[in-house]
Amino acid sequence: MSEKPQAPRGTYDVLPEDDAGRRAVEAAARSILGGAGYRRIETPIFEHTELFARGVGASTDIVQKEMYTFKDAGDRSLTLRPEGTAPVMRSYHEHGMHKLPQPAKLWYLGPFFRQEKPQAGRYREFWQVGIEAIGSSDPAVDAEAITLLHALATELGVTGVRLRLASLGTPETRAEYRELLVAHLRAHEDQLSEEVRARIDLNPLRAFDADHPGTREVMRAAPLLIDHLTDEDREHFAEVRARLDAAEIAYEIDPTLVRGIDYYTRTLFELTSDALGAQSGVGGGGRYDRLAETLGLPDTPGIGWAAGVERLLLAGDHRPHPEPVCDLYVAGTDVAAFTLTAEARRAGLNVQLELAGRSRKGQLKQADRSGARYVAIFGDEGINLKDMESGEQETVAADAVVARVLRGRHLS
Ligand code: HAM
Repeated sequence: MSEKPQAPRGTYDVLPEDDAGRRAVEAAARSILGGAGYRRIETPIFEHTELFARGVGASTDIVQKEMYTFKDAGDRSLTLRPEGTAPVMRSYHEHGMHKLPQPAKLWYLGPFFRQEKPQAGRYREFWQVGIEAIGSSDPAVDAEAITLLHALATELGVTGVRLRLASLGTPETRAEYRELLVAHLRAHEDQLSEEVRARIDLNPLRAFDADHPGTREVMRAAPLLIDHLTDEDREHFAEVRARLDAAEIAYEIDPTLVRGIDYYTRTLFELTSDALGAQSGVGGGGRYDRLAETLGLPDTPGIGWAAGVERLLLAGDHRPHPEPVCDLYVAGTDVAAFTLTAEARRAGLNVQLELAGRSRKGQLKQADRSGARYVAIFGDEGINLKDMESGEQETVAADAVVARVLRGRHLS
């Protein structure tokens, strides 16, 4: 730590002025996702490390280098959650949610942690809002999930939206395709970046993500997974697309779409915004029909997505809500001031107290800054109530102040 304490790199404070935006995200999520029958779930901030190691995949960047992992006093390895899908799948089984009407439709909103290189829109502690629909492989669930991500981004005024869509097929199809891809990469090894070359066997798909010019050239001629899907997977994908078309959601098929998590099968999607810089991904997700099995749980299909709350706010045109109105500014802190404040708050008024020992002039200035409608100033003959709108003042008995303010509020 430097001399003066500072927040750790890649973290940020949510300041009072940021609160309205974050509340807007929560309100939009609650109304859009709740309106579609999704119910809120929150899982713990930390889980057993194994849940992510198995669920997210041992070869992913997340598991290899981005997790905050620590031992507890009982020598158990725990990890601050880097993502929410594996935990929700765990919870679904731990709480017997398969007995509920399927799919179980769940949404969440909370902090996640990844040890990434911080930059604009990329943090080490960030928030996600997401959904998981577990227990159905119906393509209608995929299509609805995608429309909900689109609706949330639209509601929050995210501009320059692009939706990219792909299908990954099953792990078996992918294994066959992977051999073709590895063979292609091996045949052009000398043109590839060192990083891609080092990972040909570990994660050849990531080569599609590379910025390196030589690698990009090689990838232009690479075989595409989408041309190697089984008939069943092709049909599933067509059913998803037909429903997105019916819902008039614009999308592009991107056969090279890759996401940094291993559990995906079939439908895969990402929503980007050109209002963001390099970190243009607002949200993304896909189907994960084999995740449960990977975790040693009974086979359970699922689909979901997550969007970064900070990125939704950066890319959106959220207009701040007005601060709560201040009905009454009580210019004093003595017992009489507290009696009045308590009575006024019980009556449902928003009251702010003078807490800085200001002069009369300073009190009025502060009341004005707070947007107060009335100011109560304590004098010898009772309370001097000033209407900040009209500038009028009147002396009111202490037990009549609340009624007077309520009447004024009612009239305005
Ligand atoms: P993800 O693509 O890793 O997917 O993350 C989803 C979103 O979280 C990203 O699109 C981005 O907006 C935000 N995000 C990720 N990392 C950061 C970061 N370091 N700083 C700021 N924002 C970030 C998942 O996490 C999957 N669990 C989504 C899912 C749900 N798939 C199926 N169900």
